[in-house]
Amino acid sequence: MTAVSPDAARAVLRANDRGGYTVPTARLYPFQWNWDAGFTALGFGTFDEPRAWTELDTLFKGQWEDGLLPQIVFHAPSEDYFPGPAVWRTPARTPPTSGITQPPVHAMVVRRLLDTARAGRLAEARVAQLYPKLVALHDWWWRARDPEKTGLVHILHPWESGMDNSPAWDGPLARVPMTTTSTIRRRDTGHVDPAMRPRDEDYRRFIHLVDAFADAGWDPARMWAASAFRVADIGVNAILLRAEEDLHALAGRFGSPEERARLAERIDAARLAVAATWSDELGVFRSVDFEGRATIDVPSSAGFLPLLTGAPSLGQAIALAATLDRWAGPGGAILPSVPPSHPRHEAQRYWRGPIWAVVNWMTSEGFARHGEPAAVRLRLYTRKLIEHGGFAEYFDPRDGAGLGGGPFTWTAAIYLLLAG
Ligand code: DGY
Repeated sequence: MTAVSPDAARAVLRANDRGGYTVPTARLYPFQWNWDAGFTALGFGTFDEPRAWTELDTLFKGQWEDGLLPQIVFHAPSEDYFPGPAVWRTPARTPPTSGITQPPVHAMVVRRLLDTARAGRLAEARVAQLYPKLVALHDWWWRARDPEKTGLVHILHPWESGMDNSPAWDGPLARVPMTTTSTIRRRDTGHVDPAMRPRDEDYRRFIHLVDAFADAGWDPARMWAASAFRVADIGVNAILLRAEEDLHALAGRFGSPEERARLAERIDAARLAVAATWSDELGVFRSVDFEGRATIDVPSSAGFLPLLTGAPSLGQAIALAATLDRWAGPGGAILPSVPPSHPRHEAQRYWRGPIWAVVNWMTSEGFARHGEPAAVRLRLYTRKLIEHGGFAEYFDPRDGAGLGGGPFTWTAAIYLLLAG
């Protein structure tokens, strides 16, 4: 393992740069991913602002006409990943893309890059170009993913949460059949220990959903009707709300007064809807299953993300700091994706227990917004964790060992934000 330092982190970003876009890590993820690109841009922003803007511009080349920002943009072919474009069968476009999305961190990223820019004129020009694309993305979320006006947006595939195999999805995902018609040729388990990845049965359900959406012609209304998995993920809703707040701030300079007013109205409503998912018993916010409108009472680190927004009360921010303490692994390891005491916690299996640097960073930003001292603890801990475990994809909460793929772009990017 290379020694961790800001220079080494910058070298990871440069090494994973494929010319205008950055792969999360070689081989395991050989394309450009949606929310990864957001964090990558923040990392580049600490030392190469033009390259940070390019990362976002290249990602938005994949945006669909209706505003959808795809989860994967397949800029160059690769046999290292499944499922590739032939499985997705999305409408022909250049570059090809998948047909689902991921957490919309981008307006949050754009505002931060603008606010911290040393090259102010460049930043203004790039934001002016990105702003209408961000508006289209946010409008798409509300139009396509809350067609029944519940007040929360929904994911139609666990991959859209970015937290693919979270135990929070076990209940709703059990309703999705395992495909018996499509062949699954997993490549991920050839790159990483299968014990650290989702199980085969998860993949058979994941691909069933992809096939159902392809059969629905990737039309949002038909996908909504066809999907056996419809969940108001608290992580996505929190990130969208935060991004809406940032877009609202950007609208003052780059949008119209009408647009600003429209965003303000949406923000007020979303704050109430997110706040209503709070659980006193679990001490976190929760996702909601569209079927039966039932809250999902499986605690996960996504339940901390409303801290990024104006939704939580002071009491809830304090309660979340207490939850953080309760969930700590040996030696104070924070923030496991699922608390170690939970029966479905698995210390090494992807989103079922390991610690993720991007979630820690967003949570610490959230605690800071609410004046909670846990912010500093989380920042210091995460920095030490990366120094101990390397630029790994995720970390074992028992001993801080690096897990999954690596050297990983977003972990290096977060290190740069924490080291600054
Ligand atoms: C994967 O393939 O593991 C990704 O998380 C999907 O976005």
